[in-house]
Amino acid sequence: MSLLFYITCFFFLRIPLIFAQCECGFSVNATDAPQHAFFTDSLVTDFTKGLPRSEWVAQNYSVPHDTESRGPYGKNASVSNVVDTPDGVQLWVRAPEGSSVGMAELVSARYDMHYGSFRARMKLANTNGSCGSFFFYHNDTQEIDMEFLYREYNQADGMVNLVIQSPESQAQGYNARNTPGFDQHPLPFRPDLDWHEYRFDWTPSEVAFYGDNSLLHVMTEAIPNTPGKLMLNHWSNGDPGWSGGPPDVDTAFTVSHLHAYFNSSDSKRRAAYKKRCPKVDQSKICIISDDITKTQAPSTPVGKPSTSLLPPGSESDGDERKPSKLGRDIGIGAAVVVALVILVGIAATKHKWKPILDQRVLPAFCCGRRASTKVSSESFEADKVESGEFEPSLPQVERRGRSRI
Ligand SMILES: *[C@@H]1O[C@H](CO)[C@@H](O)[C@H](O)[C@H]1NC(C)=O
Ligand SMILES: *[C@@H]1O[C@H](CO)[C@@H](O)[C@H](O)[C@H]1NC(C)=O
Ligand SMILES: *[C@@H]1O[C@H](CO)[C@@H](O)[C@H](O)[C@H]1NC(C)=O
Ligand SMILES: *[C@@H]1O[C@H](CO)[C@@H](O)[C@H](O)[C@H]1NC(C)=O
Ligand SMILES: *[C@@H]1O[C@H](CO)[C@@H](O)[C@H](O)[C@H]1NC(C)=O
Ligand SMILES: *[C@@H]1O[C@H](CO)[C@@H](O)[C@H](O)[C@H]1NC(C)=O
Repeated sequence: MSLLFYITCFFFLRIPLIFAQCECGFSVNATDAPQHAFFTDSLVTDFTKGLPRSEWVAQNYSVPHDTESRGPYGKNASVSNVVDTPDGVQLWVRAPEGSSVGMAELVSARYDMHYGSFRARMKLANTNGSCGSFFFYHNDTQEIDMEFLYREYNQADGMVNLVIQSPESQAQGYNARNTPGFDQHPLPFRPDLDWHEYRFDWTPSEVAFYGDNSLLHVMTEAIPNTPGKLMLNHWSNGDPGWSGGPPDVDTAFTVSHLHAYFNSSDSKRRAAYKKRCPKVDQSKICIISDDITKTQAPSTPVGKPSTSLLPPGSESDGDERKPSKLGRDIGIGAAVVVALVILVGIAATKHKWKPILDQRVLPAFCCGRRASTKVSSESFEADKVESGEFEPSLPQVERRGRSRI
């Protein structure tokens, strides 16, 4: 009895556990650490499963050379330069056509990100002359960038440019060099040769940049304070001081996973958070995993699966609860319970366990409201077992069991 009780409870209790996770948000550090900024919302994208077009919008625009492009070539962002592959989404820079270079840009549909931890697993372009970026953007003076220039790599090592665009960098013609918001940081690997995870944590007091989860640099001045969106782009304007190039062949950088954990500036989102977490309970804050290829945890189970994250102001308040994982768990749970009930049924018809089934204490005891609808149908099946309706199939099970021995 007690074994059955625990097995049954285990499967049913998993359902409430899934919902209990992350209701109060996501933290980079353990919640008992002296510093543990936490964030209420998440946007989790696995690009190897295809580009979710409701969450990421490919851009289509054209900037003429010299005047606006800040370089000898114009930039032509095209939807066709954003390509879905099984490895992830590719952002292509094309060999120049006349004075224009084809480029790619993806923008998050959400533009309510107000502080957060942003992580992307990427393999950068392997051709000289382009700039690949992963960045937060509000406007040209409230922007946090991680920018990769192939021309800065050497044989063994890579480089990443960590940048905060500020009024100061604007005053220098959008050049953050010689401001506190610039760090050209060496990497102990070549970003074009393998997959690596790049990350920045943005809080009101600082921006901390990471490569493969080791801290690269912290900036504390001109920290952006307005909400914005997340962006990825790959471009070249032939500026010898920055992108270099343009490359004479087409070249791509690939993003496999992107996780954003952030606070929302949207009042509907904030209200939804307040509803699922009326009082901050540390046990309902998830610690963000250092491996973003593990998309299962922690963000899928939260009441807001990534597929239901619509732009603020859309119909959904983001509080829907329909993770497909839940369906699978109920399925597994139900299958196990059916199996147990059949077994118990067999035993009960022949032996002394009948009272347990009659009282039906087993499921009703431990599984609460959510499980009860399931339980009633299983009880019905148990009735059928008792009344002998299941008999024809039982010998079959036995035969199959025997033939294996
Ligand atoms: C996490 O802890 C480290 C070390 O104490 C601290 O420097 C950092 O600011 C914390 N990060 C967040 C997002 O709380
Ligand atoms: C994010 O929002 C929560 C809830 O409003 C708040 O308690 C927390 O301090 C915010 N985090 C940051 C880094 O501002
Ligand atoms: C993108 O712009 C091009 C012209 O540069 C146009 O032909 C094309 O239809 C546009 N595509 C989308 C999806 O807007
Ligand atoms: C931009 O790229 C698109 C797609 O490759 C092409 O149709 C269009 O002519 C290009 N526009 C310019 C200004 O080069
Ligand atoms: C960017 O936004 C901030 C805050 O809204 C504003 O103060 C600043 O003037 C803006 N900068 C530009 C270049 O528009
Ligand atoms: C990239 O091209 C520039 C010229 O545009 C050249 O100076 C540099 O050495 C090249 N770098 C690499 C890594 O090939």
